[in-house]
Formats: sequence, C-alpha cells, structure tokens
Amino acid sequence: VVLSQIDIHKNYGGVVPEIASRNHIENITIVLEELLSKTNLTMNDITAIAVTYGPGLIGSLLIGVQAAKTMALVTGKPLVPVHHIAGHIYANNLEGRLQFPLIALVVSGGHTELVYMKEDYSFERIGGTLDDAVGECYDKVAKVIGLEYPGGPKVDKLAHQGKVTYDINKEDLCATFQHNVTEVIAKKTMHALKEYHVNNLIVAGGVSANAGLRERLEKDCKENNINLSIPRIQYCTDNATMIAAAAYFAYKKNIFADQTLNAVAT
Ligand code: KG4
Ligand code: ZN
Repeated sequence: VVLSQIDIHKNYGGVVPEIASRNHIENITIVLEELLSKTNLTMNDITAIAVTYGPGLIGSLLIGVQAAKTMALVTGKPLVPVHHIAGHIYANNLEGRLQFPLIALVVSGGHTELVYMKEDYSFERIGGTLDDAVGECYDKVAKVIGLEYPGGPKVDKLAHQGKVTYDINKEDLCATFQHNVTEVIAKKTMHALKEYHVNNLIVAGGVSANAGLRERLEKDCKENNINLSIPRIQYCTDNATMIAAAAYFAYKKNIFADQTLNAVAT
C-alpha cells in the first residue's frame, strides 16, 4: 500500500516537511488497516515489524518509528530498524536473488552513490557525488523550466521528445540535460565495476525509474558482460515493500532495535 502526498505538495513546488509529517500522522493507521484488510492478514500472521529509521525528513521518520515501536510494544514482536537506502537496494531482491559481489548504483532525491556489497547486508560506500543528489538536480531543472513537482519523471518524458542540442527549447534542454546526467553516471559506474572486478550491477532509488538511465545502463552492461538488475517502476520510488525486503535479511542477521530506537535525519 502506497499513500502518495504528491498532489498535496505540488501546490508548493516541493515537499513541505511540516505538511508531510502531519499527513503521516493522519494516515498511518489507515494505511496499516488497509494493508491487513487487503491481504486478509491479522497481526498474528506477522513475524516482525520493520521500520525506516533514516535518513530523511525527521518529522515524517519520527511518526513511522513511533508507530512501529508502539506496534512492537503492544504485540511483543521484534522491531527491525532499516536504513532507507538498504531498502532501495533490496527492492532488487524482489526481482531475483542478488548475486555477490555486486555494486549498487543508488540514485534518489537525496543520494547519488556507489555501494560495494560482498554479501547480504554488508554495505561499503565506495563513491558518491560532491554535489546535489541526482533526483534533486532533476527536480531543480524541472522547476526552472516550469514543470510541476516532482519534476524528474516529467523531464524524463520531455527528454525523449527532444534532441541533444544547444537551442533553448524545453524538450531539447531536457534531452541535453538527461544525456549529460546519464553519461557521467554510467561512465563512473562502469569504471567502478572494472576497478573492483565486479560483474553484477544493481540500480536503486527513485531515479532508477528514469528511462534514459535504464536504456544507457542496459546498453553499457550488455557491451561489458555485466549482469544488470533494476527494480520494476513501482519499486523504484519510495515504498514499504522494499523496507520489508531489506528487513528479511536484517532479521536473519539478528539486527533488532528496542524501544530506545530513534529517527535520524542524516
Ligand atoms: O527514492 P525516491 O522516491 O525518494 C528519495 O528517497 O529521495 O526518489 C525521488 C526522486 C525525485 O527527485 C524524483 O524527481 C526522482 O526520484 N525521479 C526521477 C524519475 N522518477 C522519479 N528522476 C528522473 N527520472 C524519472 N523517471
Ligand atoms: Zn527513497
């Protein structure tokens, strides 16, 4: 079950943290009830309760953490803390079992980084941007040319209607921007795969929904004999299924939290 707040925030051109957390309070129990009724499950069928503790907007994280801690306290079930990016990475395990060692290209609204994994639930950050995260960059470009929040998917769409050029026309500007973004990301990623002698690449985070990036990585991976995994579109952007997918492996590694668990913004 995904509850989107995009329609609320687009009136402001971006996420307003205070409005986001208020909406979380209003909806968290509704979402949980919808989940149980849709799946015909009761809390007795649930083994453990997983929650994103960070990073992200502190107000929204606090509501999720408090809800999960309360459920764990009331039901006596174990509480599994999950890092948001571990969730994005494990969205790929919903497509097929992860093959190790692998490099994860993480591209979202808050992150642009390369993560090396030699086995399940072992994360080594081997590189990242010195600049804005790529999703944030997409959203800023979109805003400047007058596209609605979140701009990433809209820039992606226009980019496919334009050509790579220096004329100032929205479609062409999107095409040029997208070409440059995918070029640098693909090059650095292929470089990292070579340097680490890894032939498994997974892509994670909201920007992995980008059609231009997907096409480019598919081409580069084919040419270099790299196994590529990218989640289905609905598991690319933020969702709770990916948090459960990561939590399964955290649980097996005995990663649990108690009632002192707190949300962390960064
Ligand atoms: O992972 P995500 O849902 O939230 C964060 O953890 O940040 O990623 C959201 C970001 C937004 O910046 C959004 O514009 C971008 O992902 N995004 C895209 C596309 N779909 C979502 N960027 C480029 N092309 C897309 N198709
Ligand atoms: Zn995310």
